[in-house]
Amino acid sequence: MNSNGRVALITGISGQDGSYLTELLLTKGYVLHGLAPYLRYGLPVDPRVTFHPCDLSDASNLSEILDQAQPDEVYHLGAQSHVKLSFEIPIHTVDVTGLGVLRILEAIRQFQNRSGKQVRFYQASSSEMFGQAVESPQNERTPFHPRSPYACAKVYAHWQTINYREAYGMFACSGILFNHESPRRGEAFVTRKITLAATRIKLGLQHELRLGNIDARRDWGFAGDYVEAMWLMLQQPEPDDYVIASGGQHSVREFLDEVFGCLDLDWKKYVVIDPAFYRPAEVETLLGDATKAREKLGWKPRVALADLARMMVESDLELARREAAAARAV
Ligand code: GDD
Repeated sequence: MNSNGRVALITGISGQDGSYLTELLLTKGYVLHGLAPYLRYGLPVDPRVTFHPCDLSDASNLSEILDQAQPDEVYHLGAQSHVKLSFEIPIHTVDVTGLGVLRILEAIRQFQNRSGKQVRFYQASSSEMFGQAVESPQNERTPFHPRSPYACAKVYAHWQTINYREAYGMFACSGILFNHESPRRGEAFVTRKITLAATRIKLGLQHELRLGNIDARRDWGFAGDYVEAMWLMLQQPEPDDYVIASGGQHSVREFLDEVFGCLDLDWKKYVVIDPAFYRPAEVETLLGDATKAREKLGWKPRVALADLARMMVESDLELARREAAAARAV
């Protein structure tokens, strides 16, 4: 694909969303720059991406990176994004996930002044901001009630994005994304933890799965669909905020049914409820209303939960088969 002449910079390039967004933007002909702190912990970065090491809690090299990259669009996906972990390392989480966005917004504002360029900015806001939600489903006007250090940091970052839009006329958008999963999902998030364990159990590599609150209900979609919404937001004539969600809701229990069902297994024989995986404050139920995204962006999700579960199971089954073969070879 030929270059479209536009340059995009993605923070959190080595995460799930970073990898799907990389693929999407490369097919659209963007020149890509990617930021991440510790590459070895993430997914491999496409060699066509110019990689810059950058820790969002430091960011002293951000201005230099912006001067080098000269981006037209910045997708800010980098964060400490694990909700339970945020209770254990709250200050680090707020530094990276909350203040990190201010560091980027301010660096972009100064870059715009220096270069005369207009940068379009995407902030990865989260459905966790609704927390103990006052209404269901949640839309762009639903008040926030965050229930973790992570969610509080995301609320701060969300309002800072709006503030830069209003104060400086920056083209800054927030996508309020509900849970989005894929075979590339980090192993500590519940869907991937379940598909990894179920496939390993199927092949006799594991015998139990320890989980926390399996009555929690989430609105789960496919990450590949959701990164398309990020791109669409930055192609609009005006910056705005959008809820991105599937509009369907399932409990962790139902996800277990789906995944173990694909493998002809009964999860009740293997799942052990372990208080270690409960959170000090839980978000019991989230359900998104993405009407605005559908009407204004023409966006809609394509992958249903059953297909998503199957996609993840197939991918993890392949990993488990390789693991079993490697164990046999020793
Ligand atoms: N991770 C995890 N591990 N969650 C568990 C477990 C477990 O063993 N057992 C039960 N759960 C429950 C959690 O308590 C939560 O209610 C639900 O499963 C989903 O947990 P996660 O998959 O960790 O996701 P999350 O909803 O907390 O947050 C994710 O989605 C947000 C919205 O898009 C993260 O990706 C956030 O970064 C993101 O903002």
